[in-house]
Amino acid sequence: MPNNKRSVIVAIDGPSASGKSTVSKRVAEDLKFVFVGSGAFYRGMTWKSVREGVEVKNPEQVIHLMFQLKWNFYAENRVVVFTIDGEDPGLQLRSEPVREKVATIATIPEVRSFLVERLRETKRFGDMVMEGRDVGSVIFPDTPLKFYLDADPQERARRRHKELVQMEGEGNVSEVLDSLTRRDQIDRTRKIDPLQISLGAKVINTTSLGIEEVVSLIVSNVQQAISKGL
Ligand code: DC
Repeated sequence: MPNNKRSVIVAIDGPSASGKSTVSKRVAEDLKFVFVGSGAFYRGMTWKSVREGVEVKNPEQVIHLMFQLKWNFYAENRVVVFTIDGEDPGLQLRSEPVREKVATIATIPEVRSFLVERLRETKRFGDMVMEGRDVGSVIFPDTPLKFYLDADPQERARRRHKELVQMEGEGNVSEVLDSLTRRDQIDRTRKIDPLQISLGAKVINTTSLGIEEVVSLIVSNVQQAISKGL
């Protein structure tokens, strides 16, 4: 049956380890919306480039590869996931080579416009929470539901370190802080679609807030807006 209802889009942006992705997944679950992590799309492109031995600092090579790939997007348990050339990258999206190279891939304008289009197309999965760096500013600038999460760099490094230890059994906080700072710098200063607080976004500093507090703040905000007809 055709669905002509306009999707509700909740845009949640912010720097790495600001709590965005945990919070966004929980907000999506509470609202029964689909969750889209836009960073995964950039990580997918990076994963495939590394796999194919493409030098990520060479935009021509990356763009050439990009146009040969077959992406397939689908929603699984209300989370948008994808395969590239029939393969599910799964946890490899969070591996070290991908982590280190993804911010460079994300500076290539052609990669951004290609992925922004794919991300806009995920609207077909229905009401959604999308998290990233430019969701409110570029991907869905017309949505009235925009949030920007931030936290002090030390706190973000502590959170990311905890995640790494859980995933890989080890990690070094000062190395994590260095890597986050490097990535933030690239994300904030790139010429195209840099990380920024988009017009109309509600800024939430999560440094001393628990996940539950941030989730309920956003969920109640969204519910209020929906009850007022947005
Ligand atoms: O959110 P994340 O850590 O998975 O993002 C990985 C990288 O992708 C990060 O360096 C910034 C980039 N990115 C982006 O440029 N635009 C987005 N909408 C999402 C992520």
